[in-house]
Amino acid sequence: MSGQQGKLDDAVSDSLRRLRVLYLQSVPADKIPFSALIPAAVNGDFQEALYNTVLSEDATAPYPPAARYTRRFLRLLIDTSQKRLGEDEELNGDILTLYLDTLSESDPSTNFADITKPAYITYILPPSCCLPFEESKIVISERKQLLSADGHTGSRTWEAALALGEYFLSNATSLDKPLWGTRVLELGAGTAFTSILLSKIRAEYVLATDGDERVCEAIQTNINLNIPKEFRDKSIAVSQLLWGTTQADSHIYFDPWDLIVGGDITYDTSDLSDLIYTLNRLLQKNKERSPAAIISATMRNEDTIREFERQLAGTSLTFTSQEVGADGRQLWYYGSDFPIRIYTIRTI
Ligand SMILES: C[S@@+](CC[C@H](N)C(=O)[O-])C[C@H]1O[C@@H](n2cnc3c(N)ncnc32)[C@H](O)[C@@H]1O
Repeated sequence: MSGQQGKLDDAVSDSLRRLRVLYLQSVPADKIPFSALIPAAVNGDFQEALYNTVLSEDATAPYPPAARYTRRFLRLLIDTSQKRLGEDEELNGDILTLYLDTLSESDPSTNFADITKPAYITYILPPSCCLPFEESKIVISERKQLLSADGHTGSRTWEAALALGEYFLSNATSLDKPLWGTRVLELGAGTAFTSILLSKIRAEYVLATDGDERVCEAIQTNINLNIPKEFRDKSIAVSQLLWGTTQADSHIYFDPWDLIVGGDITYDTSDLSDLIYTLNRLLQKNKERSPAAIISATMRNEDTIREFERQLAGTSLTFTSQEVGADGRQLWYYGSDFPIRIYTIRTI
């Protein structure tokens, strides 16, 4: 094989890997750069590789994207491929059959219930980041189209959780304490993406908490989707925890914790004093373990963030923060360009 041929193959493999990440995350099809990811000349080999590595039952089992999403994805993919077919080449039969199958679904653009139904969203993790028995991916049952539903915002994974995931994946070995042996508590866990990721990268025990009962039920479903039965409860569990004094007697305030995490939990000024009560109490109680809280905040509103910092400064906690740069937003698709800041909070 010539050097040029090898290079082309690498480029095609990278494109297929990227298409797989985007497809399994159900990234809005009109945001996917098909024209950059599909080769200038589409042939049978490329289409077969595309079907086998991205679209086939084997590639997506056991939790494929929703048929309504697959239809939109395939419509644009087929459009681009068709324009680039080489002479005497035709569209791949398996891809066409898959597309035709999705056409029997109701039209999502006219059916509100359909677009708000939960779907499996798969986040591919870097290979070999996880325990040997674990697959390098996280599957979350989400209602991606909904910003908020049933009075809570925990139905989808937010950008701040993705950034927190990338932060832990790249810093796991440089944290003060390695994650191995660390007891982690997540506040306002939502879909529990962060808790599941931390469990997969070897935290000793993770407790995902949220103030909303229905969110907690959904978290258990997500844990079941990702963590083998024999490790549940022992290494990861869920519990309801409302910040502030409402649940001041909860065992969670008396259990030992090394790391407290939270993604996008600083967005509501009316909740901040309760959040800071909970953070302060948990960190002070575990002082002898040198605990840290790592909180990621999407910077939608400067005033809210300033208020969070102001209230933190009024406690005997200390904090540093860092903006997440482009290199911290590599692994997945982020729905917005809002800056994201990661806070590290400790006792003095
Ligand atoms: C924007 S979502 C973020 C979810 C998840 N951390 C993520 O980044 O994908 C905020 C979460 O905090 C929870 N929450 C809001 N206020 C809360 C409170 N006072 N006590 C506990 N949880 C709360 C919500 O139910 C919701 O799941």
